[in-house]
Amino acid sequence: NTVYLNGRYMAAEEARISPFDRGFLFGDSVYEVIPYFQGRGFRLQEHIARLEHSLRAVRIPNGRDWVAILDQLVELNGGGNLSVYLQVTRGDSGSRSHAYDAGLEPTIFACCTPVRDFASLPVAEVKGLAAIVTADLRWHRCDIKSTCLLPNILVLQQARDQQADEALLLRDGVVTEGTSSNIFVVRQGVIYTPKRSSEILGGITRELVLELADENGIQYQETDIDYEALTTGDEVWISSSTRGVLPVTSIDGQAVGNGEKGPLWARMFELLTRYQRK
Ligand code: PDD
Repeated sequence: NTVYLNGRYMAAEEARISPFDRGFLFGDSVYEVIPYFQGRGFRLQEHIARLEHSLRAVRIPNGRDWVAILDQLVELNGGGNLSVYLQVTRGDSGSRSHAYDAGLEPTIFACCTPVRDFASLPVAEVKGLAAIVTADLRWHRCDIKSTCLLPNILVLQQARDQQADEALLLRDGVVTEGTSSNIFVVRQGVIYTPKRSSEILGGITRELVLELADENGIQYQETDIDYEALTTGDEVWISSSTRGVLPVTSIDGQAVGNGEKGPLWARMFELLTRYQRK
């Protein structure tokens, strides 16, 4: 398992980061999760653009050749299907001080783990997920992919404690997204999803789903979804880079639609699979 740390590739056991790194002390850092299929970055440019958005938003200096860093990491790990994690912290302050010097050298860490190619699974074998709905306790800059994930972790664990797979987050009466996924509701053949804002992460997979809908004459609308709309839809899906698009078949213990994976989900799954194989 080869990882990347501050300009060098090394065995994971050899990687060392200072306890005064601001990523560790304060969660003063941003990240990306990028899938590589058959050794190639999937929607790589979009992920890099989002990373640059996150860096700019928190004022961590940018200007690395991210593609080269990640491509080489993947190659050193044998290519194939990998989920690449990239984290950039503001760096090591040398002590625990909230304020930082603008000149700090960012800490850059990347590693990868094998991932199942979501397109390799026959539609029939995809399992419907159970979700719970809970309060969105996060800050108001969820468009930044920050490593401050405590709220996400706590509510995902709450879901797991209730034998559910994902927690869907409700803020001011509307669903924002899942703890690590975007959300879609289908009603009478139309896809509904919350519009992009600082309350949600602009998911790369979300964008692709809407693009594929566009290209294939499937109607969609970016709009507010309240609890009622969420729980009375015909279908509910979640999307993320590592999971593609997955059907949610129960919410808070109640069946979504007829409790089965929906036909429009199966169509989108197929479109995504075909796109990924191109
Ligand atoms: N999470 N919303 C949140 C809060 C997320 O953390 C993620 C992804 C998404 C989906 O975005 P994308 O389609 O770009 O993966 C939406 C990653 C996978 C993670 O934290 O592991």
